[in-house]
Amino acid sequence: MTVSTPITTPFGAESTAAEVVDGIDLTGRRAIVTGGASGIGVETARALAGAGAEVTLAVRNAEAGERTAADITETTGNKRLLVARLDLADQASVAAFAAQWDGPLHILVNNAGIMASPLMRTPEGWEMQFATNHLGHFALATRLHGALAAAGRARVVSVSSSAHLRSPVVFEDIGFLERPYEPWAAYGQSKTANVLFAVEATRRWAGDGVTVNALMPGGIRTGLQRYVTDEELDRLRRQSGGDGASWKTPEQGAATSVLVATSPLLDGVGGRYFEDCNEAGLNQPGSRRGVAAYALDADSAALLWQVSADMLAA
Ligand SMILES: NC(=O)c1ccc[n+]([C@@H]2O[C@H](COP(=O)([O-])OP(=O)(O)OC[C@H]3O[C@@H](n4cnc5c(N)ncnc54)[C@H](OP(=O)(O)O)[C@@H]3O)[C@@H](O)[C@H]2O)c1
Repeated sequence: MTVSTPITTPFGAESTAAEVVDGIDLTGRRAIVTGGASGIGVETARALAGAGAEVTLAVRNAEAGERTAADITETTGNKRLLVARLDLADQASVAAFAAQWDGPLHILVNNAGIMASPLMRTPEGWEMQFATNHLGHFALATRLHGALAAAGRARVVSVSSSAHLRSPVVFEDIGFLERPYEPWAAYGQSKTANVLFAVEATRRWAGDGVTVNALMPGGIRTGLQRYVTDEELDRLRRQSGGDGASWKTPEQGAATSVLVATSPLLDGVGGRYFEDCNEAGLNQPGSRRGVAAYALDADSAALLWQVSADMLAA
């Protein structure tokens, strides 16, 4: 394994998306933010639009998307906000979204996600968190690869989570067909897949100028916690050494995504995992910070790509 110097930046846990993009001109750049109508997706889109990019909000709920687009236009003065329907759990929807995309794509933020849901399956029988958080974004990015390559130097942002520390991708039973379903294990598996995607996509696509990095945004109160009770949330945060005071605002939660999408400090950099606006080190036992070695493993990343492509082709 080659050891590379970790990327450090002047930003940290409290930095906001507006601060990390300050001074960066995205005029002429085109970006997509999945799940851009709620939570940190809104603030990610707002920061990119504020820097001059054309931003497409790729959303399930077009009305919420239109409201968010109008709000972003009002706060940034940028009128190049577009809304397009995308349901990541529906492969026909992903295909339709990608088919109507025309021209280059400079920034793809794979942000949408669900967390710790009860067992749900897509019509194909795929477990819903893996299908939404990983497979939908895998299909989207691979379908948009031509547009990304056409941009020259494009970036894909893979929004993961420290919850990836809860589970590797269990290749023997990704779909929880043989083992009991556990909502956090399923979420963790899908978030590890988000990191492995960054590793293998960079290996495959860096030659086209496309780099992919993963990140943990921090803990932010959003719609993501809809399946989790307040008591369970408190218990989990105490376990991980956090407390109520350490929640980030959505503007702070969007900062690492925006940094990974735009910072010149990441030019040519891919396949890495960021946290609090800096590259994270390897996770240490007993800590909820850093990246698991299994999430950066090149062989697992290559295997996940193949397995994902096979699932989509079946
Ligand atoms: N908040 C945190 O503390 C935290 C911590 C670590 C990682 N993250 C990650 O950050 C990302 C953003 O989360 P958030 O906190 O901003 O949560 P959020 O407010 O719930 O946003 C998630 C977005 O994903 C969309 N989405 C869900 N399923 C979808 C599907 N099948 N197709 C298309 N879009 C879908 C949701 O759309 P609807 O509105 O239609 O449901 C929503 O807009 C997620 O990937 C999450 O795993 C968040």
